[in-house]
Amino acid sequence: MHRSPKHTLNNGVDIDVLGFGVYKVPAEDCADLVSTALDTGYRTVDTAALYGNEAGVGTAVNRAVAGGMSREELFVTSKVWNTEQGYDSTLAAFDASMEELGLDYLDLFLIHWPCPEQGLFIPTYKALETLYREGRVRAIGVSNFEPVHLHQLLDACEVVPAVNQIELHPWLAQTELRTLHAQLGIATQAWSPLARGAIFDDPVLQALAAENGRSVAQIVLRWHVQSGHLVIPKASSVQRIRENLDVFSFTLDDAAMARVDALDQDRRAGSHPSQVN
Ligand SMILES: NC(=O)c1ccc[n+]([C@@H]2O[C@H](COP(=O)([O-])OP(=O)(O)OC[C@H]3O[C@@H](n4cnc5c(N)ncnc54)[C@H](OP(=O)(O)O)[C@@H]3O)[C@@H](O)[C@H]2O)c1
Repeated sequence: MHRSPKHTLNNGVDIDVLGFGVYKVPAEDCADLVSTALDTGYRTVDTAALYGNEAGVGTAVNRAVAGGMSREELFVTSKVWNTEQGYDSTLAAFDASMEELGLDYLDLFLIHWPCPEQGLFIPTYKALETLYREGRVRAIGVSNFEPVHLHQLLDACEVVPAVNQIELHPWLAQTELRTLHAQLGIATQAWSPLARGAIFDDPVLQALAAENGRSVAQIVLRWHVQSGHLVIPKASSVQRIRENLDVFSFTLDDAAMARVDALDQDRRAGSHPSQVN
């Protein structure tokens, strides 16, 4: 069984470098798919209120714990959705997520998008700080925050986000944000690390896959890992789920890493944070 190494967040909490994402996993399939991922060796799962499948994630986690896995081995992330921003509504949204999940505590709670036109991400984050201080969540952070949002947050809040989860893959290198994260001690977690599959047609990645005897997905995920990113690929079959976790037994040499780095073209698979409000 393949296992991900751990990364220690800025508050001392460990998270898997490679976890399992469940965006667009139908609610009715989610528990069994997450159980498959846990059986395969994954220990970190990324969901969100928006995905409508928190209950399935919680069922799989509670099933694993009932089967002998310790809850402490597992790491669950969820996110407060845009319509719930604001101090009181975020506290209520957290309660609703925990009810769906059926868990006693959460490992990581994120603000899903900054939604700058709403102007509410600071009180939203203050609610996350309250939950963190109360011990209901082990780490807090943000998602889709641009440098300007991070600076505003740090000026007004006390707990440095443990994570900023952003769209990141070889076509979108996010150099400015990653440099800022390194300066601030914020872990960079890549969403759509495979560009939702669009990147599989890239000829450079296909050539690297052939040269290394690996799939394109494995080349891309290995590039993420060696670049210091946390990653949460989503997949729907046992074979892909297993393949995506099998990226810790080979390395890309400096020349191969440079060829992937050179693919950056500011090309997104999802929305730009300024478009989401
Ligand atoms: N914070 C945010 O705003 C945000 C936004 C988007 C996503 N996310 C998180 O990031 C996670 C990952 O992003 P994502 O789901 O958008 O995209 P992704 O992980 O980049 O790509 C998933 C796509 O790649 C395919 N795939 C995965 N492994 C494969 C393999 N080994 N070979 C061939 N195809 C493979 C999947 O197909 P099948 O499913 O058919 O196997 C699916 O179509 C999400 O699930 C979610 O948890 C967060």
